[in-house]
Amino acid sequence: MDLVMQSATQPHAHRVWKYFQERQQWHDVFPADFADDSEEVGPYTDSEGPCLVLFKNVHITPEQLDAWLLRCFVGRVCMRVFWLERSTAAAGSWEELVTTVAAAPTPAGATAVRIDVFPKSLQLDIGRKICAAGYPHPMHPVQYSHVLYVVQLSPSCIRWSYMPAVQAWKMSSVAPARFDKSVATAINKLAEAMQVIGLQHAPDRQQLLQQQSLAASQQQQQQQQQATQLTAAAAANGNHQQQQPIRWAIDIGACPGGWTSYLADSCGYHVLAVDPAPLHPDVTARPRVHQILGKAQEVGQQVDEVLAGQQADLLVCDMNDHPIRVGEHLLPLLTKLKPGGWLILTLKFYGKGREKATMVNHLDGYFKSEMEGGRLTWLLANTLSFGPIDGKPKRHRTRASVAGSPSAAGGDS
Ligand SMILES: C[S@@+](CC[C@H](N)C(=O)[O-])C[C@H]1O[C@@H](n2cnc3c(N)ncnc32)[C@H](O)[C@@H]1O
Repeated sequence: MDLVMQSATQPHAHRVWKYFQERQQWHDVFPADFADDSEEVGPYTDSEGPCLVLFKNVHITPEQLDAWLLRCFVGRVCMRVFWLERSTAAAGSWEELVTTVAAAPTPAGATAVRIDVFPKSLQLDIGRKICAAGYPHPMHPVQYSHVLYVVQLSPSCIRWSYMPAVQAWKMSSVAPARFDKSVATAINKLAEAMQVIGLQHAPDRQQLLQQQSLAASQQQQQQQQQATQLTAAAAANGNHQQQQPIRWAIDIGACPGGWTSYLADSCGYHVLAVDPAPLHPDVTARPRVHQILGKAQEVGQQVDEVLAGQQADLLVCDMNDHPIRVGEHLLPLLTKLKPGGWLILTLKFYGKGREKATMVNHLDGYFKSEMEGGRLTWLLANTLSFGPIDGKPKRHRTRASVAGSPSAAGGDS
């Protein structure tokens, strides 16, 4: 089967297509062996187009597609999917489509059919014309045994197929939100960035609820243990917990605290949140969150005091400043990262156009003596800006070293 995915905007379609093309580079966006190839369906410009991506020879089942779309951030931008049999000949015009579909055998067990047409503006008209041409089943948008998919990929290529209703993907209005709405936009950016570099799988809503209920029951358990005084077993457990190494994340430009809460709650970091503005009190109330009120360029010593000789595993930055200044502010803080730790930063571009590639090259050069393996992606969660450059600090930092410079940075647009 081929699969056509319709997204909300053309930039989203472009990003989905690009993630597929670069699937070797980005972790776990698409299921393994998802499809043989993909095509961003045209004609399109940077901002306008049919918003379709065609995946050729898809190897996963409709059920696996549904599960993936629910789990992965790509699901948030998917508006409709169309499954298309590769062996069914395309119609060369709408007239041919109507007569061919009306005369073709319908699937065994079909009782009523729902028709999904791209472009949607033609859906009603094409459905009526097929019925008027002697179609043997009623068409119904809600109660149906099968879906008839019809997609115009070019003026002379209209493809169509049937799919049993039970297998057809539905954009579920009851699908649980991945994160609370108040902080969703910011968190989705970080969750996507961490997922694509393989650092952390963004938990879906169900996993988050499980984590929260586990945390609540652990807290309850701890309270019970305190109330009944220490038993030997509880003391041993407490000692064991103290021995666990603390994983630190530094969050620069942390206010109001979406990223900080995600790093603390979902990823289990102790988070050092830096911003001149105070975090939301709900965020600072978390036991693993430490706040430094100040600007990135002024807090080096305070960071050292909180870390008390340790180094962080992760440095993230969502500071709203010009990318060049962000680079200048971050460079001294890279010493707070462990060798092998990660830097994730979003780059916020002002204005439109070509400045982006220049800026990315600038930052690439700026960090390359300190970091290796830098990569740049244009996040689906943030389709109108770039982010993140990520990289690992070199084990032996030296200004002279050029090995492992971030070769892929700047390759996206
Ligand atoms: C887009 S917000 C960050 C949102 C945050 N990631 C979240 O999830 O809630 C950008 C923040 O960068 C902060 N900021 C700007 N310049 C800064 C600097 N030099 N040092 C630290 N923070 C800075 C701003 O105060 C602002 O709160």
